[in-house]
Amino acid sequence: MRVKRASIYITLLLLAFTGAMVTSALWTYKLSMQAAMGNLKTAATNMAVNLDFTLNNLGLRRYYFQKLVSSGDWEAVAFLALYNRDGEVLLHSNINLIGLRMKDPHIQRVFATGIPLDHFMTLGTGEKVYVLDYPLHYHREGKLRTEVLRIALHTYPAMGVVRKARFQLTLSLAATGVLWILTFLLIFYIRRSVRMERQLAEKERLALLGEMAAILAHEIRNPIGSIKGFAQLLMEKKEDDSPEREFLQTMVEECIRLEKLVRDLLHYAREERLRLSTFLLKELVEECVKQSEGQREDIKLAIEISDNLTITSDRDKLKQILLNLIQNSQEAMKQEGTLTIRAHEKGDKIVLEIQDQGKGMTPEVRERIFQPFFTTKSQGTGLGMAIVKKLTEQLEGQIHVESSYGQGSVFRLILPKKVNPQ
Ligand SMILES: Nc1ncnc2c1ncn2[C@@H]1O[C@H](COP(=O)(O)OP(=O)(O)OP(=O)(O)O)[C@@H](O)[C@H]1O
Ligand SMILES: [Mg+2]
Repeated sequence: MRVKRASIYITLLLLAFTGAMVTSALWTYKLSMQAAMGNLKTAATNMAVNLDFTLNNLGLRRYYFQKLVSSGDWEAVAFLALYNRDGEVLLHSNINLIGLRMKDPHIQRVFATGIPLDHFMTLGTGEKVYVLDYPLHYHREGKLRTEVLRIALHTYPAMGVVRKARFQLTLSLAATGVLWILTFLLIFYIRRSVRMERQLAEKERLALLGEMAAILAHEIRNPIGSIKGFAQLLMEKKEDDSPEREFLQTMVEECIRLEKLVRDLLHYAREERLRLSTFLLKELVEECVKQSEGQREDIKLAIEISDNLTITSDRDKLKQILLNLIQNSQEAMKQEGTLTIRAHEKGDKIVLEIQDQGKGMTPEVRERIFQPFFTTKSQGTGLGMAIVKKLTEQLEGQIHVESSYGQGSVFRLILPKKVNPQ
């Protein structure tokens, strides 16, 4: 329980840490993206202002843009172009494009609004470039003209900071992933070793109990047998209405209870090897039903199991499990009703259900039914369900309970169709 709680705390801590890491990395990434965009915009605007000045003073020179782009200072430029209102290319760093006409919505928007516009576009080479469309106003042939200068910049240099942030983001995600894996492995190993330690302690405890039970069985069984035998003998000699007869009857009943306690204790504590065989499940259930039927004639026992369903398991142990479950269900049913035993196959498992219409259990009782010596009955040893659980686990199965107070109970055994030989 402590390990489970610690695992939950560690997982929560890890979640908080991951949240902080990812948020900070994403934040850095966002800031670096903004910085890169700012850098591109500043660089392109500076170039536009310079070109505005130069073009106003020098006029349009066919090779001017081509020379600029090939000069070392302007290496970030992908291309330069100047368009007039008709979409005609007046200047271009690729002189072959001068004179062409093209309709570009961005350029037209700049002509319409007079405000610079930046965006990204993909070149024929597949490269994505940053573009600033910048309106230029200047006098030519005595007229004030407006033309649009397009500056396309390679994003590679400015995006260096983004690449760094992206790398940082990937690194922190990878580191967090590794941390998660390592933590889960650690939790897994700690839980496994705690479980194994517990199982070992439980085994040792059972072994000790087994020895005690064996001594008890040896030392107590015979005297109890004698007391019971003599009490029965004396009872036969007494008159039917004699008051001593009642005392002797109580003695016999208590002896029977003690014998059951010793028997249950031995069953619970003794580690017996499995004796596997393949048998028809319905036949075994019918055998158990026949044995239990006499105890409560007002309870109908219904079997819903197909005739040919076979199982390879320890027949005696499974019988003991079923007898215990049937007995508990019968004891839980105060009035007449039906107790149903059904089974079906599910993959390589068999699901065996025992459903009663008894008084059911409160959550508190349901929590504790598998604890040794837990009982709500005045005559019970409280070992029945502990034995059931132990035997089920020995048969490599699981047992689940569904029950609510006043609603009856369903005990569900999930057993392998074939138990592996030990
Ligand atoms: N089918 C059931 N319906 C309601 N309660 C149940 C049922 N099966 C078990 N219980 C509860 O679980 C407790 C423990 O059961 P368990 O078989 O271990 O002991 P017991 O029946 O009390 O005693 P014993 O089996 O030694 O006669 C019971 O006392 C009862 O309260
Ligand atoms: Mg019982």
